[in-house]
Amino acid sequence: MHDAKLVIWGCGGMGREVLALCEVLGRNVAGFLDEREEMRGQMVDGVPVLGDIQHIYAYRNEVEVICSGVGDPVLKRKFARKTRDAGFRLAGPLVHPAVNIPRSSQVDDNSIVCAGSIVSINVNIGKFVIINTQVTLAHDVTIAEHCTISPGVNISGNVTMEEGVFIGTGSAVREKVTIGAWSIIGGGAFVKDTVPANALYAGVPAVFKKKIIR
Ligand SMILES: CC(C)(COP(=O)(O)OP(=O)(O)OC[C@H]1O[C@@H](n2cnc3c(N)ncnc32)[C@H](O)[C@@H]1OP(=O)(O)O)[C@@H](O)C(=O)NCCC(=O)NCCS
Repeated sequence: MHDAKLVIWGCGGMGREVLALCEVLGRNVAGFLDEREEMRGQMVDGVPVLGDIQHIYAYRNEVEVICSGVGDPVLKRKFARKTRDAGFRLAGPLVHPAVNIPRSSQVDDNSIVCAGSIVSINVNIGKFVIINTQVTLAHDVTIAEHCTISPGVNISGNVTMEEGVFIGTGSAVREKVTIGAWSIIGGGAFVKDTVPANALYAGVPAVFKKKIIR
């Protein structure tokens, strides 16, 4: 059902970028979803904000939902759960047409790959992942569900990102490093050692800054 209308969770910067990507791909977007009651009924970039998921329940068999319209991995997971619990279908991957995905690499459902990114061989991108603009993913990289990779990030070969990792703009990650689940890397960092789960690392080289309590 590739021609199904799409709805996008989030109508901020990331959601609007996903809308623009849908337009490049020729996909029809019915509207945005947003939990904030005051946003319901507003127009954003010419597209209506439809409200929360329950407000479009009557259309659950007609639309597919994109949960990757927000950068925060925790919010993406929340929206994915709400969408599944309400019985909606999740959209497949959205990859900018100028990005080549080699046959040994894959992008799973509801993930976004934006313009200017380069995906090398044997790269595995899980569900609900954002690969923002001009990201490079070298050979044998694994990116688990709900990760967000900000613009201009360079990931070297054999790097593994566990679930829910956020990498800030312009960072670089050395080869064979693992970044633990739900950790955050500050913008402009160089990650040279393995990062534990639930930690904020930043700087060049990246060092431990604080534990992340959710
Ligand atoms: C990491 C980040 C998310 C801030 O998180 P936070 O929980 O608010 O962190 P804090 O401001 O409490 O900072 C904690 C410490 O890390 C340091 N820090 C935070 N971000 C840093 C960075 N990018 N580089 C170096 N140090 C950084 C702070 O100076 C502070 O250090 P201190 O304890 O020695 O004073 C933010 O600084 C950042 O880098 N964001 C990038 C966002 C991005 O790329 N967005 C892309 C959107 S398209």
